[in-house]
Amino acid sequence: RSFHVAVVGATGAVGETMLAILAERDFPVGTLTLLASERSAGGEIEFNGQKVIVQDLASFDPAGVDIALFSAGGGVSREYAPKFAAAGAVVIDNSSAFRYDDDVPLVVSEVNPEQVAKRPRGIIANPNCSTMQMLVALAPLHRRYGIERINVATYQSVSGGGRSALEELGRQTGQLLGFQEIEPQRFPVQIAFNLIPHIDDFLDNGFTKEEMKLVWETQKILGDDSILVNPTAVRVPVFYGHSEAVTIETREKVTVEAARELLAQSPGVEVVDRREAGGYPTPVTHASGTDAVYVGRIREDLSHPRGLNLWIVSDNIRKGAALNAVQLAELVAAETR
Ligand code: A2P
Repeated sequence: RSFHVAVVGATGAVGETMLAILAERDFPVGTLTLLASERSAGGEIEFNGQKVIVQDLASFDPAGVDIALFSAGGGVSREYAPKFAAAGAVVIDNSSAFRYDDDVPLVVSEVNPEQVAKRPRGIIANPNCSTMQMLVALAPLHRRYGIERINVATYQSVSGGGRSALEELGRQTGQLLGFQEIEPQRFPVQIAFNLIPHIDDFLDNGFTKEEMKLVWETQKILGDDSILVNPTAVRVPVFYGHSEAVTIETREKVTVEAARELLAQSPGVEVVDRREAGGYPTPVTHASGTDAVYVGRIREDLSHPRGLNLWIVSDNIRKGAALNAVQLAELVAAETR
């Protein structure tokens, strides 16, 4: 059977990649509805060689939609996702609006796919990009060796901030190379040739919300509130692909060889770990535009007997957002075959 699929936020950085991935993976799309704000309603986007007209979400009637992929921000999801679900659609939501609700499953397709079926509200949440790639790599190690604590520093590309963030890095880079003044708009300070240790809002505990997503989402997805996570999230002047320097402390010691062997067989993971120039993954050489979560720089922690260091890189728009959303849609579609 084929499905009536709606993409909410179809004109955005994640939305356009959702469309590309639906086509690449031959998702059984019967009818495709593209939705965005009034600003882009009436525009055309190509899907599988056919032009589809973008419609205004605010005036769209969701009756008949089977699967709705939402990536238009938390406010849009909070208002419209329940309406689509009430009309009978299964909503796969890329925003953080419902991720921490007990009756909304939070699912990484390689880690806890069985949770997709437990959706009393008809809503499934897609995890945060940084948590997503980290857990594709760490879940197999957790199952085998028991992770007690995770120290993570992220190096997050600007595409996580959407189209306007991509444009700002491009614009500032050009301006700086032309010796022009720059004026930060989308980011709080200059992002070109700089690093910003601030993503999403500051919370009362001194961490940012982006950092706490790594704590809350890791515990929820692995179903284990005892896992300790100590995060620092940093925005870097990279267009596509997030990187993470991760140290895990496990109950049972993991050697480098055992970790490489386990990860090499793990779904969604590619080990790139040669100890030579270029023998490690980077956003540009490996992740950008591809589907895997790449792991390299695997080393034993010199300061802890059961510590292991890993460098984890993936395309935040693909596995970190659009690809996982489509994989969740595939799991939903498989229920009715
Ligand atoms: P639009 O292009 O009409 O503004 P990004 O994350 O790349 O900035 O993309 C955000 C996506 O969410 C875009 O497709 C944008 O549509 C859509 N969007 C933003 N606000 C709304 C809204 N109020 N109603 C519907 N779609 C929205």
